[in-house]
Amino acid sequence: MSFRLTPVLTATWGTDRSWTIDAYHQAGGYQALRKALAMSPDAVLQLVKDSGLRGRGGAGFPTGMKWGFIPQGDGKPHYLVVNADESEPGTCKDIPLLMATPHTLIEGAIIASYAIRAHQAFIYIRGEVVHVIRRLLRAVEEARAAGYLGRDILGSGFDLDITVHIGAGAYICGEETALLESLEGYRGQPRLRPPFPATAGLYGCPTVINNVETIASVPAIVRGGVEWYRSMGTEKSPGFKIFSLSGHVARPGQYEAPLGITLRELLDAAGGMREGHELKFWTPGGSSTPLFTAEHLDVPLDFEGPPQHGSMLGTTALQIFDETTCVVRAVKRWCEFYAHESCGKCTPCREGTFWYAQIFDRLEKGLGTAEDIETLLDLSDNILGRAFCALGDGATSPVTSSIQYFRDEYIAHYEQGGCPFDPVASTVFA
Ligand code: NAI
Repeated sequence: MSFRLTPVLTATWGTDRSWTIDAYHQAGGYQALRKALAMSPDAVLQLVKDSGLRGRGGAGFPTGMKWGFIPQGDGKPHYLVVNADESEPGTCKDIPLLMATPHTLIEGAIIASYAIRAHQAFIYIRGEVVHVIRRLLRAVEEARAAGYLGRDILGSGFDLDITVHIGAGAYICGEETALLESLEGYRGQPRLRPPFPATAGLYGCPTVINNVETIASVPAIVRGGVEWYRSMGTEKSPGFKIFSLSGHVARPGQYEAPLGITLRELLDAAGGMREGHELKFWTPGGSSTPLFTAEHLDVPLDFEGPPQHGSMLGTTALQIFDETTCVVRAVKRWCEFYAHESCGKCTPCREGTFWYAQIFDRLEKGLGTAEDIETLLDLSDNILGRAFCALGDGATSPVTSSIQYFRDEYIAHYEQGGCPFDPVASTVFA
């Protein structure tokens, strides 16, 4: 059976020492950089605009447009910052990419910096992934030794250095302005937007912040061209994307496919649900996107499809749950994560996620009441649109969508004195 898979970023994953510069060269690596440096920065920018590439961090903002916001001739330094602080629950695409082919990101970062006329780029990576940090640092050294970084890169007159900055493991530091605060040495908390980083970012200077997968997609676009890139995906969401399947599937892992593919097709590629079980609910893009159920198996997974059905594409972290999972317990775990990770700057998120966790705890212990569902919805109303950054809004998604689709399961928790999926809990607290 053939599946609509399009391995581009993942094409060499699993091959012998794919992370070394030699293996990358053999696969055609750094040819895109040569091609880009022979073009003008504006022509590279136009190419990325024409490709229709959209941000892979979750929001899907058009990449070329973002680069185009960087003012030119302003006399200020420009910066490129790569967001490698992947933290969204279920999201696991950037870390494997960095492990398998770190040079794809480095080549993309050099091309992007050239296009926006930046001479210093930063890769902000979460501190827990020490093995990835080591591999990335080694790859940056290899690139420098090969003359791809430093002064007068490949005789083009273009200078660039890349600094790998290691974060301390806070979810909020994946939010772009909190990341900038952290990079500047302050406590990682979001800044008010506007101004957006494109006009006032790192050290108050014009800054492009892009996700790892976004920047890593650029070399392939430069090499393959706009027509090739647009031959995949949909008109408004062109190209390929890494979909991360985890949970109750036969073969969890990374599946690179054109945008617009459906979960039904991805499940076919992944061998289906684990044997003897049925799909109950899933997240299209991490826990900050509203849940989907089996009725959404054919929703096209692009930047338009999930929103038309009340969700979002997000980070394409497809967490798949079968009928053995208690949805209340799954949402409880996510709420505990949000309560722990809330940076505390704004009251709706700080207090709201704290109370989410309290209410879910008592529901699971069989101490809930009929009022709890309404309180959860009321709390959600008071977070959504009132939090300082998108992470507060995201925390409400699993709560409201799970109540929408599985209200009966919430009711069962307080009517049956605990989790109906867990007979021990129900008898202890009944
Ligand atoms: P956003 O839509 O506000 O912004 C997206 C990007 O476009 C940003 O870089 C922003 O600076 C830029 N932008 C938007 N409007 C602009 C304008 N008028 N001028 C200049 N630049 C502009 O989304 P946000 O708040 O940055 O991110 C939310 C997303 O993050 C969610 O969709 C969520 O899925 C995702 N997320 C990803 C995580 C991960 O681990 N990858 C973790 C948590 C959330």
